[in-house]
Amino acid sequence: MKPKLLIIREIENHTMNILAKHFEIDYRPDCSQEQLQNIIQDVQALLTMGTSINEKLIKNAPNLKIVSNISVGYDNFDTDAMKKAGILGTHTPYVLNDSVVDLTFGLMLSAARRISELDSIVKKGLWTVKADINYYGLNVHHKKLGIIGMGRIGEDLAKRAKLGFLMDVSYYNRHKKPELEEENITWKPLEQLLQDSDFIVMLTPLTEETKNMIDASRFKQMKNTAIFINMSRGSTVDENALYNALLNKEIYAAASDVFVQEPVNSDNPLLQLDNFTATPHIGSASHETRNDMAQLAAENLIEVFINGKQQNIVPELQLLVEKNTF
Ligand code: DGY
Repeated sequence: MKPKLLIIREIENHTMNILAKHFEIDYRPDCSQEQLQNIIQDVQALLTMGTSINEKLIKNAPNLKIVSNISVGYDNFDTDAMKKAGILGTHTPYVLNDSVVDLTFGLMLSAARRISELDSIVKKGLWTVKADINYYGLNVHHKKLGIIGMGRIGEDLAKRAKLGFLMDVSYYNRHKKPELEEENITWKPLEQLLQDSDFIVMLTPLTEETKNMIDASRFKQMKNTAIFINMSRGSTVDENALYNALLNKEIYAAASDVFVQEPVNSDNPLLQLDNFTATPHIGSASHETRNDMAQLAAENLIEVFINGKQQNIVPELQLLVEKNTF
């Protein structure tokens, strides 16, 4: 008998067909977290994106052996609870890097040149030739870019920023990456990076250490011409502090693809600000990349669960394979 796989994200037919060779599939792309509690009882494998895999869910999932996340971030995994229950988790690194970098440039350009703000002025019929000076923004090219969280996406962003926009790039990361020095991408202490940079891009994963990492005191260290972009997770930034920094012009503008609560509340005060651009967590959301991610997540399931190989298991849960408790 094939093991039972529950899929709670929309995926393309060709990915489904690959999975159907190995699993008995229950496909419920509209399943909510609440509904999931009631249907996970006899499920052995789960394919999802961002669903909270916590103690409460695990209690209702006595047969669950593996969760394959269609994302690189896995802050939705309670890895301690999963470890205790012997549930493996996989993610999808690499395939989304270039798309996340594309959107990061989109938001940098939009915030600096006020694209979404001025788009709405044009569409409302409020464009006046005399007001041209009021439409000025800031340059992106040749500016200083500071990256917080120098993983794979950060490195790609740095390289493209140097090549495409002739930017001067530095980064802050717990571990220095000496190989980047050769490319003139330099490590700086966080405070210095915040003081020096014209653009600050947040790319760090959400962990206990990075929660609210950018708070009121950090915004005060930035230039008042700085542009802040959050591409990581909403909770790495104190949203109230960001609001105040934008309102009081402590920084020039900000853009965020991620929010503490998603979908973001329509009464979130950030959404009222002209110098704030919001997108709905679409860093990797191109047709091509989301398909690649779903396909990789499917391959991860097959390689790990069916073929007993190690492929894209999240580091915190590697131990389960090494100790053979899986
Ligand atoms: C990721 O893969 O972590 C992106 O943020 C999409 O969720």
